Amino acid sequence: MTQRNAISDLSEVEASLELERLAIELSKANSAYHTHDAPEISDSEYDALKKRNLAIEAKYPHLKRKDSPSEQVGSAPAAGFSKITHAQRMMSLSNAFDDNDVRDFDKSIRKYLNAEESLEYTAEPKIDGLSLSLRYENGHLIHAATRGDGEIGENVTENAKTISDIPHHLQNAPEVLEVRGEVYMSHADFAALNERQLENGLKAFSNPRNAAAGSLRQLDASITRARPLKFFAYAWGVLSAPLAQTQMKSIESLNHLGFSINPLTKSFDELEALLEHYRYIESQRATLGYDIDGVVYKVNDLSLQHRLGFRSTTPRWAIAHKFSAEKAWTRLEGIDIQVGRTGALSPVARLRPVTVGGVVVSNATLHNEDYIKGLDSKGETIRAGKDIRVGDWVEVYRAGDVIPKISDVDLTKRSEQALEYVFPDACPECGSLAVREKGDAVHRCVGGVACPAQAVERLKHFVSRGAFDIEGLGAKQVEQFWKDGWISQPADIFDLKNNYRTGLQQLKNKEGWGEKSADKLFDAIDRKRDITLAKLIFALGIRHVGENSAQLLAMNYLSWSKFESAMRNAHIGEGRQWEELCAIDGIGQVLAGSLVASFQSEYEFEAIQRLVAHLTIEDAQHLKIDSPVAGKTVVFTGTLEKVTRAEAKVRAESLGAKVSGSVSKKTDLLVAGPGAGSKMKKATELGIEILDEDGWLALIKDL
Ligand code: IVH
Repeated sequence: MTQRNAISDLSEVEASLELERLAIELSKANSAYHTHDAPEISDSEYDALKKRNLAIEAKYPHLKRKDSPSEQVGSAPAAGFSKITHAQRMMSLSNAFDDNDVRDFDKSIRKYLNAEESLEYTAEPKIDGLSLSLRYENGHLIHAATRGDGEIGENVTENAKTISDIPHHLQNAPEVLEVRGEVYMSHADFAALNERQLENGLKAFSNPRNAAAGSLRQLDASITRARPLKFFAYAWGVLSAPLAQTQMKSIESLNHLGFSINPLTKSFDELEALLEHYRYIESQRATLGYDIDGVVYKVNDLSLQHRLGFRSTTPRWAIAHKFSAEKAWTRLEGIDIQVGRTGALSPVARLRPVTVGGVVVSNATLHNEDYIKGLDSKGETIRAGKDIRVGDWVEVYRAGDVIPKISDVDLTKRSEQALEYVFPDACPECGSLAVREKGDAVHRCVGGVACPAQAVERLKHFVSRGAFDIEGLGAKQVEQFWKDGWISQPADIFDLKNNYRTGLQQLKNKEGWGEKSADKLFDAIDRKRDITLAKLIFALGIRHVGENSAQLLAMNYLSWSKFESAMRNAHIGEGRQWEELCAIDGIGQVLAGSLVASFQSEYEFEAIQRLVAHLTIEDAQHLKIDSPVAGKTVVFTGTLEKVTRAEAKVRAESLGAKVSGSVSKKTDLLVAGPGAGSKMKKATELGIEILDEDGWLALIKDL
């Protein structure tokens, strides 16, 4: 595999190019795998590409593409098979890479459900095969479909019928029953199949999963029949009647109906016991006779699963705990400091290049001062508290198989000259103080836009995808124009053409530019004089304001003039404008404070004014969703007994409602539980519709 830059080293423009490259490469790999069952890259390379894509998206959420590979659960169905639209989408799983990720998963679930006591979970091997959905009506197997892209799969009914684990008829099954599970091939069958392939002068399969996929997806079912495939049932789709009340009992009921279920599936009411079972399964991995790549945990109680629901492609109630990644030792040759758009100083480890899981790693993120010291964000010990020093031998792994991190330090090899790393208290770029505020792990350069690194990074952000996205004006050009003194603020970009120092005549004579490219650039800039409110807010590059929050702000204020006047008139911590800003769901006090402070810094506000004078800003619109509460402002008060506040809020918002914390003339609906006081009184006075919790649940029941 070609070496790629560490994600922490990527500029925004590089990141966006890389996302484009990954989308193309992954789509090519998908079709090679699916149309010819002849993968051009190995599974681990494929996984690494997918994970790299995810990690870049996590760092630059605003660069995420519309055709992002991470939104695709599998791959689009191949030609040759007829298509089946899944009655219920086939989901993927989010991943946990260590025990702490699993503890966080449990915590977030309990928080969502407001459950103090421990929850029951099932744990079962994650089978490394391909998923299949089987639909039974009145006990007859009607069709079998591969996952495809999660929405539409391929009709592989005839092939599935050749698998001995898949019953053609069921007795005492619900009228409609969709059984989901994994098709896989055992190690022994894989070895025998490859032997036959070679004997017949055919290509060997690279691993059991590809062999299983290639075998199931044969247009001629007689070929599938000759290949020994197996099937474990672990989930279901549409059901006309529930199988049971819990995950465990439902799986057992599938077993009674005639499906094979994995014998290592167990339920636990203690998180630590769950993790113990993970270690047990890991210890059995080599003897199972088939490939597994982790352990899947699921909330056992199905009514809780229902309440937790789904994110766009993964359930909230399940997670895959992957087996740990490969590690390697190397020498730490230096620590560099990079200064970001908001002034954060990020330490980066420069490593003697080393191969980890097939990829050469030469940089690793060191996050911040505490991390170097061996402490995590909560001040707890990591790496057994061992600090990292230049010259040390360090153990490197790739978190999520992508992001290089340091897991250990070999103290026996530490030289006596190796000194404890002293985090700089000045910005390496501008010399301003680098301050670490109380409660913050990060050192920040106080230079603001006077710091060249921050100013350039902000300009790069301004032109990036998700913001103004100006074609031909990427990180490289921004850096050059900045160095030449052509641009120092966003408004300068729109002045470039008419400025006698920087206009067409000048640009076309510049190295790397000609008349055509210069013209093209000015046209691209002109096209972006029309911009949506959300993009403008995001482009300003204000700390904490990401693409999502910019969208929320735009949807709430609707026009630039309303937004600007609210921000100018707001006082941090008090007053109507402040309250309204903080009442927007998803806008916290920290973000609000940073936003208001920016608009009230005369320097920054002047820069914003200069910019806005060049633009025509398109108003935003309230979200349109078809539900009785869409566009309405809902307030929850008192104690909710069936769902938590957080859950109620998420649900209301997903139905298009705006959830506010206070009752005003603008409130459309108050949902009041026991103990509701002043808000209830005020709502009654204002004649606002009031529902109790049951009334609310009934209103949104079938949505
Ligand atoms: S549950 C809604 N359980 O892993 C939850 N999936 O990475 C659906 N897989 O798409 C999935 N073993 O193809 C589940 N015991 C197991 C699994 C399992 C393998 C696969 C499945 C899924 C993928 C997600």
